[in-house]
Amino acid sequence: MVSPMYVCLCVGVTDGQIREAIYEGCCSYREVREATQVGTQCGKCACLAKQVVRETLTELQVSQQTTLAYPVEFTAA
Ligand code: FES
Repeated sequence: MVSPMYVCLCVGVTDGQIREAIYEGCCSYREVREATQVGTQCGKCACLAKQVVRETLTELQVSQQTTLAYPVEFTAA
């Protein structure tokens, strides 16, 4: 079990909240920022927040590709 990590201390946004915003349809850092207000104060968390956004989007893409990858048509060699 992973405990929540605060990404943005100014606004009090955790990595879990960022992931949730993405699961709910945000697909860029800008959209996550608008939804959660992350990085809207001092801006020091922007780098980490972007990283969490990127990681979560990549995870989603990978899981989508895995479900789309089957059935795979093989051509006989
Ligand atoms: S820590 Fe996020 S805006 Fe300051």
